[in-house]
Amino acid sequence: MSILNVGSGSKKKSLVGLDIGSHSIKVVEIEHSKLGRILRNFGMIATPQDAIVEGSVKDVEAVSAAIRSLFKNLGIKNKNVAASLSGYSVIAKKIVLDEMEESEMEKAIRLEAEKYIPYGINEVNLDYTVLNAQDPMEESSDEKADSGSSDKMDVLLVAGKNDVIDEYVELIQAANLNLGVVDIDVFAIQNAAEISLDKPEGSYAIITVGASELGINTIHNGLSVFSRDSSYGGTQITKAIMSEFDVPFEEAESMKLGGVGLDDDKIAEIEKIIASKVLKWVSEIKHALDFVANTYPDETIEEIFLSGGSSETPGFKRHLEKETEIPVTGLNPFKYLVANSKFFDPDYLQYIGPQACVAVGLALRSLGDK
Ligand SMILES: Nc1ncnc2c1ncn2[C@@H]1O[C@H](COP(=O)(O)OP(=O)(O)OP(=O)(O)O)[C@@H](O)[C@H]1O
Ligand SMILES: [Mg+2]
Repeated sequence: MSILNVGSGSKKKSLVGLDIGSHSIKVVEIEHSKLGRILRNFGMIATPQDAIVEGSVKDVEAVSAAIRSLFKNLGIKNKNVAASLSGYSVIAKKIVLDEMEESEMEKAIRLEAEKYIPYGINEVNLDYTVLNAQDPMEESSDEKADSGSSDKMDVLLVAGKNDVIDEYVELIQAANLNLGVVDIDVFAIQNAAEISLDKPEGSYAIITVGASELGINTIHNGLSVFSRDSSYGGTQITKAIMSEFDVPFEEAESMKLGGVGLDDDKIAEIEKIIASKVLKWVSEIKHALDFVANTYPDETIEEIFLSGGSSETPGFKRHLEKETEIPVTGLNPFKYLVANSKFFDPDYLQYIGPQACVAVGLALRSLGDK
């Protein structure tokens, strides 16, 4: 499902995955062939500073120029792209409705959606999908009786803010591309996880720590049961280093990533800053996972997967594992893509994988799919 899909007719067209993050723009092109999914292109470019703030496009000219040069450098010919929204501009929520005819659903869902959306219903673009969570083939009659929901249906509702969607439409046009699908980060990452996990069934969580967003998504048998975004991320650390040492953004970034020539005092100070942010992220995640454990006591999370560049922050994985007592593994969305090692260094793909999850997930989308 998606917030916007401008595809028409039954013919599916492949899309280039374009992840416009606040720190970097990533692009992935995948070709579906008899050999499997082939990685055709992958590249990144820095996002101009402060051009994307809280998911909103603040500088169309600078960002579209960066996208144009990324496409040019990689020689990508396909102009149809899938992009995604995140943060406050989108809401994904599972609701329960009485079973009803398809024709009545649209109206009922709009009414129900009004309760959950902190904006006017006319300010958002709505999409929904009926989840087959109560598929009688999969659940025993006991479980069905427990939930008492044979005449209810679970509906996943997605709402994207129109003004933010309009910003993306304008941005993609300015980059001389066509916006085919607008997805949301959390679904794109989930799709990327599904093609790269050895056991995509069961209950697991995907934690994403980007530059300015911390996303938590818990999945049970392929369906998201809980998701939440908070405004945490690696930029918090970079900004704290900027103010502590009075240095510009780029220098603070490189200090954060273990910049050369730092004396022991500076290193200790940076480590202190990093540790304090990591502590906050872990406590936010632990809080959410405890909530999920209390709400869905039968769905014990067996593993945590990490995505996003800041999930590589020193100490984060170890600390998260210790606090939650759940094994934590980095996601590598390239794992099962066929990649020619003449063009793509396998070690680099493995290293950069967590940052590429959204773009890989978007590249799996086609024009006209639901
Ligand atoms: N090895 C690393 N160790 C620690 N932090 C890293 C590492 N590599 C990248 N980062 C940080 O990860 C962040 C970028 O991650 P990512 O590409 O996932 O963000 P984004 O998608 O651009 O941002 P958004 O949060 O808006 O989605 C930056 O803050 C960067 O400093
Ligand atoms: Mg991101």
